[in-house]
Amino acid sequence: MDGPAGSGKSTVARMLAKRLGFKYLDTGAMYRALTWKALQDGVDLKDANALCQLMDQTIIRFGGRNDDLQIFVDGVNVTEKIRLPSVTNNVHYISNTPSVRQRMVKLQRTFASEGNIIAEGRDMGTVVFPHAEKKFFLDAEIEERARRRYGEMNLPDSDVSYADVIKDIEIRDKRDTTRKNSPLMKSDDAIYLNTTKMSVEEVVSRICEELESAVKKQDF
Ligand code: DC
Repeated sequence: MDGPAGSGKSTVARMLAKRLGFKYLDTGAMYRALTWKALQDGVDLKDANALCQLMDQTIIRFGGRNDDLQIFVDGVNVTEKIRLPSVTNNVHYISNTPSVRQRMVKLQRTFASEGNIIAEGRDMGTVVFPHAEKKFFLDAEIEERARRRYGEMNLPDSDVSYADVIKDIEIRDKRDTTRKNSPLMKSDDAIYLNTTKMSVEEVVSRICEELESAVKKQDF
């Protein structure tokens, strides 16, 4: 499952994995985890060799259940830390470094080799799992994506405005879609879902219908 920031793919992927009894893989969390580690260790985010070396020395592991997925970096639980603005604002250095991406892809494929999985990110259908049984690309209008993000932030005393969130999503969209390495793109064989006017439950049901119909037609 791929899609831009705020398209609802994390929530949908998590619910879907729970409903199907599959594992859930949040690949964005992996890029965030290495960003957290680099900031923690004072590694130069513009130094591809140093980032690559860091990736080789760092153990990224998931724990917990789908609806309470935890991520660990060298044994430290960073589940909440990786959502901090310092990580969000710097993750593009990591996700734009080809040698790091190569290693991430390898690790993601290893996780997937352990059983049925719902994987979400930006390059699942195009690069990481080109032979996935079913691919979905979730999208929504930017105003709606910003509304969702703003709602999730739930910071009554924060200085962050809705306009700030829109601006931030615009920057992230541009970075995600224009980067040289594995840009966000719909794979030709992915099903496109515009979720602007859909609830999470509606999206999950719609995907389940597609999966059931594929099973009936043996379209795998
Ligand atoms: O989905 P997210 O916001 O947690 O992703 C964090 C960052 O990682 C985002 O800037 C895009 C990048 N990313 C990526 O390049 N490839 C992926 N498969 C997943 C995320």
